[in-house]
Amino acid sequence: MTCGQDLPNARVNGSTTSSRTTNGVSEHINGHTNGHPNGKHSTPKVPHLIDGFGTRAIHVGSEPNPETGAVIPAISLSTTYKQDGVGNHKGYEYSRSGNPNRNALEKTLASIEAGGSEAIAFASGSATTATVIQSLGPSAHVISVNDVYGGTFRYITRVASSTQGVESTFLDLGDISPGSEGERKLIQAFRSNTKLIWVETPTNPTLRLIDLTRLVEILDQQFPPHSPSAASRPLLLVDNTFASPFYSSPLLLGADIVLHSLTKYINGHSDVVMGALILPARNAAVTEHLRFLQNASGAVPSAYDSWLAQRGAKTLHLRMKQHGINALRIAKALQQLDNVEEVIYPGLNKSKSAIAWKNLSPHAKKWIDAEGLLGADGSFPFSGMVSFRLRKPSHDASYDEHAEATSKFLQSLRLFSLAESLGGVESLAEAPARMTHASIPPKERDELGIGEGLVRLSVGVEESDDLIDDLKRGLESVF
Ligand SMILES: Cc1ncc(COP(=O)(O)O)c(C=O)c1O
Repeated sequence: MTCGQDLPNARVNGSTTSSRTTNGVSEHINGHTNGHPNGKHSTPKVPHLIDGFGTRAIHVGSEPNPETGAVIPAISLSTTYKQDGVGNHKGYEYSRSGNPNRNALEKTLASIEAGGSEAIAFASGSATTATVIQSLGPSAHVISVNDVYGGTFRYITRVASSTQGVESTFLDLGDISPGSEGERKLIQAFRSNTKLIWVETPTNPTLRLIDLTRLVEILDQQFPPHSPSAASRPLLLVDNTFASPFYSSPLLLGADIVLHSLTKYINGHSDVVMGALILPARNAAVTEHLRFLQNASGAVPSAYDSWLAQRGAKTLHLRMKQHGINALRIAKALQQLDNVEEVIYPGLNKSKSAIAWKNLSPHAKKWIDAEGLLGADGSFPFSGMVSFRLRKPSHDASYDEHAEATSKFLQSLRLFSLAESLGGVESLAEAPARMTHASIPPKERDELGIGEGLVRLSVGVEESDDLIDDLKRGLESVF
């Protein structure tokens, strides 16, 4: 099976390098892989087969068992492993340090997050975040996008600040084009102790996008590769939870670390809480440190959860395609409705959302091209999250009356469950101002565009006509 179109040239430390995946082992031709630290002799002698995204999701880490022939990995519950002699084991000693199911899942994740070489799984997305921040050591400075996931904001400002003396700067990174205010503020924010840039795109719940290519360009300009300042270049971490590895491949654009709450799209069935980091081969030292912390802190997922998440990941490409098609249809249907003020969906209009197109993974682009899914109006599927603003029930309605109308709408839905979280096969709807983002003070919420009429949909993979009917009926019950 050869399907090499989905891994184009990847950036390695500011230079361009060719990246390939063979049975899930990502190799960078100019990278530090294949036992050739200078990469000069790493051109493979035999042609490598490069499988497409869906093929890797199904096969990598899930190879048939050589002893039994089982095509699905067995769940390995043992916490310890018999050694043949002291220190002579089969690769497993104790289940916190390594477990066949967790290792298999990590292999799958490293393969589907294009450009990845290793994945490190944790007991939740939040434990993953905590471990990354811990890895920075004392008194580090973190630059983060301002509408970052609330739990990340909380960990940086209320935990790491007091336990590690972590300093932080939160910035609007929506426009960092050359000469923009955003670019100026970002450059101004760099300090000698800035060790990490934390980015989420699309953001939650207003689905704002960050131009990852431009961000890497700015880093290259500020910390030119091969210059003395290259050693103090902060790491760029992208929380890719909302886009999923199907729609966005930040490592191919030059990011250093990708984070996922696997709880969302990757597991996809709302029955596992888990997180993971995926890193490219060029970041071997960072990977090793994070792997050390995974074991030392011990916030590891269970064998059963790892097995479930790996099973979920096998259908990620199928689900993400349907999530995207449904979400785009719903976004367009909502745009036609009088009582909806604004619809936010990253793929709604290519000219407005050029960043979405730039951030789109090569495999998603390939699919969109092959299926002719780029609309004449420039719209295209981009993950399954849609946000929209309900009009006030009357011109002079108060905050509370507006919130009441939103709540009535949400309660009247039949198929969309009124619930937090996202990324499962079933559709969910919520009011961020009173639910996921309630802890943010009202003034800041307003500044971030999280008003009382804002509704966030996690569009599932049900029939889109049924979902649209559900939303229309819900609106009729309020207005
Ligand atoms: C973007 C994002 N990152 C990280 C997390 C944290 O993940 P978890 O809930 O698995 O701890 C979440 C949770 O909602 C999230 O939405």
